Amino acid sequence: MVICLCNGMSDGDVRAAIAQGASRPAEVYACCGGRAQCGCCAPTVLQLLREGPAKG
Ligand code: FES
Repeated sequence: MVICLCNGMSDGDVRAAIAQGASRPAEVYACCGGRAQCGCCAPTVLQLLREGPAKG
């Protein structure tokens, strides 16, 4: 599922970034080759960060 239209990031991309050590949204975007733009996806990114790499 695409959660960030600006960067074309899926939830899988975000989880992969978290699994690689991203602990803040900016690191998640950077790890996916993008950056925070409109911010619409921020709540979802934060939720995935809270869930951590173990789930999913
Ligand atoms: S949808 Fe992610 S920055 Fe716009």
